[in-house]
Amino acid sequence: MQRIATLIEHTGPLTFARFMELALYDEEHGYYMTRGHRPRSAPSPIGTDGGDFFTAPCLSPLLARCLVRQLVEIDEHLGHPAVFHLVEMGPGDGTLFRDMLRECEARHGSLLSRLSCVLVERSPVLQCRQRDMLSSWATRAGGIRWVDDVSGLAPGSLTGLLFSNELVDAFPVHRIRMERDGLRELYVTRRGGEFVEIAGAPSTPELASFLNDLGVGLPDGFTTEINLNAVRWMERVAGAVDRGVVITIDYGHTSRDYFAPERQRGTLMGYHRHTVSTNPYARVGEQDLTAHVNFSSLARAGERAGLTAMGLTNLTHFLMSLGIDEMIEDGGGESAMAGPAAQLLRHPGMGSTFKILVQRKGDDVPAVRGLRHRPFFESALTAVPEAAALRARA
Ligand SMILES: C[S@@+](CC[C@H](N)C(=O)[O-])C[C@H]1O[C@@H](n2cnc3c(N)ncnc32)[C@H](O)[C@@H]1O
Repeated sequence: MQRIATLIEHTGPLTFARFMELALYDEEHGYYMTRGHRPRSAPSPIGTDGGDFFTAPCLSPLLARCLVRQLVEIDEHLGHPAVFHLVEMGPGDGTLFRDMLRECEARHGSLLSRLSCVLVERSPVLQCRQRDMLSSWATRAGGIRWVDDVSGLAPGSLTGLLFSNELVDAFPVHRIRMERDGLRELYVTRRGGEFVEIAGAPSTPELASFLNDLGVGLPDGFTTEINLNAVRWMERVAGAVDRGVVITIDYGHTSRDYFAPERQRGTLMGYHRHTVSTNPYARVGEQDLTAHVNFSSLARAGERAGLTAMGLTNLTHFLMSLGIDEMIEDGGGESAMAGPAAQLLRHPGMGSTFKILVQRKGDDVPAVRGLRHRPFFESALTAVPEAAALRARA
């Protein structure tokens, strides 16, 4: 993207986080800001129909149905508040939210009538798509409100459920490498008309603090991503909740797995037309960039800001706990439901690499059904490998 090249020429190398911020969210050329500038009939970046990647909501409405089961249980624990805030952060084209409202309409009319809906969406063009997708709901009683950042949610103003699917992996990340003489940060510069990486001193002490806070010591040569935006986001989300639950769904790992030897080159990836690329400097502004989420750091940031981590599970266990099998049987077993369910559960990586972190504010919600089966025990979110162990395994 010429704009980034010019910026580097004028100001010098950029942190990878700044590069990724511009590649995805530059107002004129960023991936998420331009894809919808095409005619409305043109494909969204998300989906099997001409998009660059697909997400669970576009595979099947079953995730929405399971989330509504979870929503109903949370509503009961909260004592059926007169206004229940349902907040989705990073809703993409709005498919998941639409399917959840449909499910509420079909089975939980009284809850639907108490919903106050908020969508947090940074991209104006995706906001337009969401308004189209949800037009028939936007004019109803509680209506739907849009804000472009979680800072637009007033502190302590929400009672209900806040959730996101594949939002945090789209936040710009810093890239770091442990070298013999200490922690280095990777910067992006230009050489011979190409974007190239160079290592330099960390741009902020927050990078070392992030690792120290998690008790992580990396072996020499280990290259990875640090998502400081995720920490800030989590703090704001925690601040906005008065009583209720936060559910974060995304590709990711506990710290122990995030910094395991098999990820010693990091987790950064690009997606263009359903093709995966490990080169973030190809098709700048035309490919999506993502990095896996460190759920231990999200849980810790939440704890500091007043959220209690209730647990972590993976998508398969979450869906099974919420009765996806009954939903398939209710639909006749071999029915139209079975195919999409299998796609959700068996899609390479999705059922197991996809994790679900559940956090709560206040004591109203003692447990949630979605965490009934969880392959991660209580200590998994906080456990990290010792530096020596990491070295031995590397
Ligand atoms: C990978 S898409 C996921 C979309 C959707 N949740 C799904 O599962 O299909 C990421 C979404 O998050 C939005 N987004 C990215 N950063 C954001 C931020 N800081 N605040 C709100 N939305 C953001 C993007 O514009 C996009 O809608």
